[in-house]
Amino acid sequence: MPFNAPTRYPESPRLFLKSPLGTALAAVEQDPDMTYFRILNRYVYIVHSPQAIKYILQENYKNYHKGRGYELLTYFLGKGLLTIEGEAWHRQRRLIQPAFHREKLQSLAQVTANCTMNLLREWQKREGETINFTQEMGRLTIDIVSRVLFGTQVAPDIVQSVWHSVNILNGLAANRLRSPIIWPFWLPLISNFKAKWYIEKMNKIMYGLIRDRRQNPTDGHDLLNMLLEARDEETGEGMNDRQLRDELMTIFVAGHETTVNALSWIWYCLKKNPDTEQRLRAENDTILGTQMPNFDNVSRMAYNTNVINEGMRLYPPAMFVGRKAMAADQICGYDIRPGHTIVVNIYGAHRNPKYWDKPNDFMPERFDSFAIKGDNRFVFLPFGGGPRICIGNNFAMLEMQIINALLARHVQFDLVSQHVVPDPQITLKPVGGVVVKLNQVTL
Ligand code: HEM
Repeated sequence: MPFNAPTRYPESPRLFLKSPLGTALAAVEQDPDMTYFRILNRYVYIVHSPQAIKYILQENYKNYHKGRGYELLTYFLGKGLLTIEGEAWHRQRRLIQPAFHREKLQSLAQVTANCTMNLLREWQKREGETINFTQEMGRLTIDIVSRVLFGTQVAPDIVQSVWHSVNILNGLAANRLRSPIIWPFWLPLISNFKAKWYIEKMNKIMYGLIRDRRQNPTDGHDLLNMLLEARDEETGEGMNDRQLRDELMTIFVAGHETTVNALSWIWYCLKKNPDTEQRLRAENDTILGTQMPNFDNVSRMAYNTNVINEGMRLYPPAMFVGRKAMAADQICGYDIRPGHTIVVNIYGAHRNPKYWDKPNDFMPERFDSFAIKGDNRFVFLPFGGGPRICIGNNFAMLEMQIINALLARHVQFDLVSQHVVPDPQITLKPVGGVVVKLNQVTL
């Protein structure tokens, strides 16, 4: 039987490794739905059509497991939600999902507002200085997630240690993913020693906190308590320490860099388009006035939400989502064989001129008329889609809404780095971070 494939991507596959974002856009230009290239006998499909993405991530998701990239991450994260498959994933997702429901995130709103105000008090003392906004958002979001996970009393040196280790581990994992040769972990390489050292450091912290909480239970509503209390509705079983450690690591790693990058790009875009920043400030004044942003009032800030969505449309923190076909299949009439690689081209989909007017412009108001529901959820998918959609999406949105509201109200700053280049590592990072000059902090 002839093999029915879409039009082949004409450039060398090496270009994808060298310039993934350029390839992502060129692939959309070549075919607005999907294309493929071959590396030896490996087929790699680049998919940006919403129908095909919906099929892969939702309709037949069981046939599309996470690919090689996620297998590599298992060394760092263990068997947490992000990396496991099949029934084990299903069970874990059922167990953890309730802890992430929007109404459970009331305390996140409070913690986010408090941590952001603490940071702004520090910034006030640094008026006139140049700061790396991306690094500062890193410090802030680790502070937030540590307190949401372990309670507001978590010691500052633990937060600092987690921040440092998560950054190092993210860098090591990114290098490994991009390397053409994957050296085994048992080889005595400096990078392997470093990875082991920092994983061990994180293990000590995570197991220490878990043990502590099992011995001294609290009635607080932090995530660790919710995870400790979670019981499978069918078997009544909870998670053991190893599973808890893997889920905590996953939450730190999956939720940290993504949110930091999103905030960096959002503020980069706002600064490049001052009228949009003005509109955000005006909405803040009208809806919040002098009130602290909280779970209820930020949900009424439609423009704030549009700004976040538009920033993530242009610079999706997870620019690609990888899958591997388990059994022979057809996607939109094209043949797929077991082992074929699928790259869900989120970056390309978000800039596909077939669906977006002026796709490269930052226009938050476009989301006034773009409802993120039905098939549109596969045209705009910063959090992925289908059953494996990001479990932290409400968490991340609420956190960013509150941080944005407070930054817009209290801080005046200018871009120092005028042209920031995106670097597609595991996530879409701004090279060198977004550097800004703090002009004024009014509290
Ligand atoms: C702007 C911020 C974020 C973005 C853009 C983002 C993006 C994504 C994407 C695209 C996926 C799907 C990956 C795939 O299908 O292969 C995902 C999964 C996941 N994310 Fe996020 N994420 C963000 C924040 C967070 C936060 C704050 C947390 C935790 C607190 C989190 C935890 C997870 C987990 C555990 C998964 C795996 C879910 C599963 O497979 O069941 N993420 N994320």
